[in-house]
Amino acid sequence: MAILVTGGAGYIGSHTVLYLRKQNEEVVVLDNLTKGHEQAVVDVPFYKGDLTDGKVIDQIFEDHSIDSVIHFAASSLVGESVTNPLEYYRNNVAGSHALVSKLVEHGVKHIVFSSTAATYGNPERTPIEESDVTAPTNPYGETKLAIEKMLRWCDDAYGLKSVSLRYFNAAGADPEGRIGEDHDPESHLIPIVLQAALGQREKVSIFGDDYDTKDGTCVRDYIHVLDLAQAHYLALKKMKETNESGVYNLGNGKGFTVKEVIETCRSVTGKTIEAEVAPRRAGDPATLIASSSKAINELGWNPEYPELSQIVAHAWSWHQNNPKGYGDNE
Ligand code: UFG
Repeated sequence: MAILVTGGAGYIGSHTVLYLRKQNEEVVVLDNLTKGHEQAVVDVPFYKGDLTDGKVIDQIFEDHSIDSVIHFAASSLVGESVTNPLEYYRNNVAGSHALVSKLVEHGVKHIVFSSTAATYGNPERTPIEESDVTAPTNPYGETKLAIEKMLRWCDDAYGLKSVSLRYFNAAGADPEGRIGEDHDPESHLIPIVLQAALGQREKVSIFGDDYDTKDGTCVRDYIHVLDLAQAHYLALKKMKETNESGVYNLGNGKGFTVKEVIETCRSVTGKTIEAEVAPRRAGDPATLIASSSKAINELGWNPEYPELSQIVAHAWSWHQNNPKGYGDNE
């Protein structure tokens, strides 16, 4: 039986595919390549298509014995979602609705859903637990929460079991250097700082230094992309064993300010890296730190690369060896 991975050519999706292949799982990828890269899909059947393209999805079910799905495909930028909410509702909510309708039609019973810490908004306490209030401060988080809720109702109605994984800040790259992070345009902190280290940017803008945090800059919980991948594998295995739906946070339980991240990048790369304070970015909560106890206790999740310096080192190695990302080959 095979696992269908939507968005498997994207950053987190492609690393998860790599991890699943290492566990000898059969994998099929669906991606429309608006953000993903075909070269990131290593050694598995690939279908180019949209979540709303029922014909491609029917074809996948005809060609392969799909019994479960890991659903990454989505728009995922907080700032962009604030300026273009309709696009986020279209691509994320309507796209997931179309996909899940097809999965129900084809009798799929297990789906792992790529959700986000952005579902919590400005949390009432730190570290955040899964039972805490969800009140997103941006359309990105709203759309992911809407999909989580849709999946819960689909469990009751159609017996489609789902596990929603709320990631904190994914970072790092395959330690063996085969794939890495390449967004265009790049908006994530660590790759931006590393582009500055490579001399591809003059300086890094720090979005706001007047937050209620220890140095005034936003605090985030950075988690290695391969540790996220491991959690998807474990979540799917456990859901198939127990036939129970669930929600899990995935983070390191440790927060770093934007300034601390820049400092870590300076020390890993040995480069100066200029930075200057700029206005706040819309939709940014001050602090997001996960309690991942539930994933650790219930899924047996055991992050392999929890140190920020290691996460940055793997990302740095990818950026140094692929200064244009996948660009040279596209
Ligand atoms: N930041 C800067 N300068 C930059 C880029 C980012 O100061 O040039 C700051 C942001 O304002 C934020 C922090 O660095 O405070 C991290 O920003 P990212 O864009 O790297 O990540 P986000 O926290 O905005 O969002 C990421 C994912 C979301 C997910 C969220 C959950 O992109 O999908 O983590 O924590 F929801």
